[in-house]
Amino acid sequence: MKQKINLGALVSGSGSNLQAIIDNIEKGLLDGVINVVISNNADAYALVRAKKHNIPSVVIKHSDFKNREDFDREMIDVLKSFSVDLVVMAGFMRLLTPLFLNAFAMRIMNIHPAILPAFPGVHAQKRAADYGVRFSGCTVHFADEGVDSGPIIIQAVVPAYDDDTEDTLAARILKEEHRIYPQAIQFYAEGRIELIGRKVRIRGSERILEAALYNPSLTVF
Ligand code: GRF
Repeated sequence: MKQKINLGALVSGSGSNLQAIIDNIEKGLLDGVINVVISNNADAYALVRAKKHNIPSVVIKHSDFKNREDFDREMIDVLKSFSVDLVVMAGFMRLLTPLFLNAFAMRIMNIHPAILPAFPGVHAQKRAADYGVRFSGCTVHFADEGVDSGPIIIQAVVPAYDDDTEDTLAARILKEEHRIYPQAIQFYAEGRIELIGRKVRIRGSERILEAALYNPSLTVF
């Protein structure tokens, strides 16, 4: 029987990434178990998803605390009481304080809907679409004190088109989020992630073809 990694998920909203993680665990593709889901928003649909799969959930409203440290301390206590090894932020819309980051140093992952370091922060898909980029995508990274600035674990690239709206681009990106997040967690579960400075090495990962992608495609050269 393979060792399963104990996960704690932080959510604020719909929780489609949480669902992707749950589905891959249930399919036996991800060697993990979600011990607890924490939401700062009592109305998050992610809580309904957790309930459907009999995963314990706790609502911790940030507005109930007088400062960010106290809020984070409460989350740390809950995560520790559920023996969480790896924290996965799945659409969690709060910045973590150093207190939290130190409590789970390099054991906190986040997903962001852009190819970082481009378009960190909120409304990444709209800003990418409005900018007119030809490619965008998503990034799973370790959390640090900055906004979407920690060491990058895996990225997926998708094309962006001139007639893309925020919604069409976001949907294309989200599909890939649901693949790379479980994969990043599985790399961790397999003990293959090594941090060298701010670079992440995934032991035994294959190099992708050394070819470029073009959008629009080349017609002459
Ligand atoms: C995703 O686009 C994720 O990259 C971002 O917030 C969104 C959350 O979606 N951080 P969901 O709650 O997982 O459906």
